[in-house]
Amino acid sequence: MEKQHESKRNRLVLVMYPLQGHMNPILDLASVLHSRGFSITVAHTTLNPPDPASFPDFTFLPISDGISTWDISPSNLVNLAYTINRNCAAPFKGCLSQIIHQEEQHGRVVCVIYDFLMHFAETAANEFNLPSIIFRTSNAAALLAFCTMAELSAQGQDFIARDSPSDDLVPGLFPLRFKDLPISSMGSLEKFSQLLAVVCSSRSSSAIIFNTTDCLENFPLTQLRRHYQIPFFHLGPLHRMAPKKPTNLVKDKNNCIKWLEKQARNSVIYVSLGSIATMDEKDLTEMAWGLALSEQPFLWVIRTCESEKKQLPEGFHELVGERGCVVEWAHQIEVLSHPAVGAFFTHCGWNSTLESICEGVPMICKPYFADQTVNARYLTHEWGLGIELGNVIQRTEIEKAVRRILVENEGVEMRQKAISLREQIKKCIKEGGCANNSLNEFVQFLSSFSE
Ligand code: UDX
Repeated sequence: MEKQHESKRNRLVLVMYPLQGHMNPILDLASVLHSRGFSITVAHTTLNPPDPASFPDFTFLPISDGISTWDISPSNLVNLAYTINRNCAAPFKGCLSQIIHQEEQHGRVVCVIYDFLMHFAETAANEFNLPSIIFRTSNAAALLAFCTMAELSAQGQDFIARDSPSDDLVPGLFPLRFKDLPISSMGSLEKFSQLLAVVCSSRSSSAIIFNTTDCLENFPLTQLRRHYQIPFFHLGPLHRMAPKKPTNLVKDKNNCIKWLEKQARNSVIYVSLGSIATMDEKDLTEMAWGLALSEQPFLWVIRTCESEKKQLPEGFHELVGERGCVVEWAHQIEVLSHPAVGAFFTHCGWNSTLESICEGVPMICKPYFADQTVNARYLTHEWGLGIELGNVIQRTEIEKAVRRILVENEGVEMRQKAISLREQIKKCIKEGGCANNSLNEFVQFLSSFSE
């Protein structure tokens, strides 16, 4: 019965990139669009597949990527994007052709929505005369920075290759300094520059959607509207717009919520670097002693891939005792929404940034790569919710930052700003708010494809 009903709806094919920070927002987008009456097919690589059992309303379409294993580290990311685009183009075309020709079973495919890194999907959509839409999983400011970098490098400026970019402001990109530009540590510069040109172009796509909101990113969104000649929708924060669904690849098997229950309100620093960034052994040691010296409770996520290779310093666990909780993965949104969490030590991935702002939690910012430097600059200098750390992790600097944000007045003020921004975002999402209006316009736009 359900299947029959689904087959009568207009079908959207969403093409997912296989990293947690990309999967979470596209699955949220899929849930939002499903709740607005569309049937959903999620096309995904065989590397890092999502768990279909968590999304019984969606159809999942595996695309063979020819990758058996991949070391998902920052220096390998540009290569991953290249490999996937090269290997998935033909299999995706085959899968798309099949579901288009099985209209009775799957419903009519009206559009392909693809993660901006899965641009092979646009070529396939064109072949079947289907409109395609780019989904930007990260923020507008980072895209604006990427586009400016692409323009500057086309003019022959070699700042991408500089070893130590300066503190000077980038013209037209306030508050970003040259050192905040998302310069690659993700693979070869040549490939990075080529990727930059691809991600900044709208190609032949019909629209772009962003997981952001006007109340956070009015300036970069306005600038980008001038740059792109196609419709533009800001639908974020999607994790707040979507009906609640578990989207984590790794389930939260830890008892960290139980541990949080025992801690005082706003007393805990939550430490996590998302799903890719890692600390080297030296930084891990400095971090451990910094947390120990701060004398504040902490919940620290050290992913398995890190803990298998690196050890926390001897005597650390004995010294901190019950004051510290170290886990391999946490359900981050649940953690951030817990009243005991007073601050977040973060790598400033865009999902972590949005999730923390939406819970009114101020941040200590230690960006690593890609958009993270841009996000950190916005957090510290535009929104006033974050403490900027120096490039080198030192125990005394960690100790000071943790105390500043959890104990001192500065932290109280930042928390108030974070709470006020959280309330603004709540208004954006409600009926009549800018995110909700943008979503209504987007649904109308999608519906026009089936007229
Ligand atoms: C990557 C890039 O690094 C990031 O800069 C870009 O904006 C998106 O893609 P990632 O590094 O994983 O993502 O960071 P982030 O964007 O913060 O996404 C991580 C996601 O994993 C978040 O939704 C977070 O809630 C979730 N997570 C992470 C957990 O649920 N538990 C954890 O322990 C760690």
